[in-house]
Amino acid sequence: MFGIGKSVTDILIIVGTESGNSQMVADLLQEELAKQRHQVEVMNYGTAADADFAHREVVLICCATHGDGELPDNIIPMHDSLKDTRPDLSHLRYSVIALGDQTYHDTFCFAGKAMDALFAELGARKIGERLEIDACTQPLPDEEALDWAKEWVTLL
Ligand SMILES: Cc1cc2nc3c(=O)[nH]c(=O)nc-3n(C[C@H](O)[C@H](O)[C@H](O)COP(=O)(O)O)c2cc1C
Repeated sequence: MFGIGKSVTDILIIVGTESGNSQMVADLLQEELAKQRHQVEVMNYGTAADADFAHREVVLICCATHGDGELPDNIIPMHDSLKDTRPDLSHLRYSVIALGDQTYHDTFCFAGKAMDALFAELGARKIGERLEIDACTQPLPDEEALDWAKEWVTLL
């Protein structure tokens, strides 16, 4: 699906999900990026220590928003341990795919935006622009993510 790139990149996809859309997006991207021989791991539960950021190259955060602009439960340990331990992530590049719903216009994609701000605060450098997927107008989030990733992968 993607064009063949020049080199192999180590990519960790961190998933924040309640009802599975973000997981679906992450799984499809893992499959497609792996076809391009990138080294891709998907993590949907864990802390900053589990992710071992010191040895990572690129992190792709794939995160829905729930409640009233809140993080999905499964990604809270990761978020909170990063907040508490404040590791230096300046060696890391990252991107964010935020899933939300414009119906919640006051809190649209808040969790993805919060993860984006946290990685930037810790010194990680963003690759490209954050993708925001609106469930209200996009019933197929994995297809939108795949289109976005075709360009994203050229920036690695
Ligand atoms: C109870 C509930 C609350 C939600 N709250 C928000 C919200 O505050 N902001 C937002 O942008 N989307 C919100 N959403 C929309 C979800 O983020 C969206 O449906 C997303 O695709 C779900 O992804 P997931 O299946 O990975 O959890 C909410 C959805 C539900 C069911």
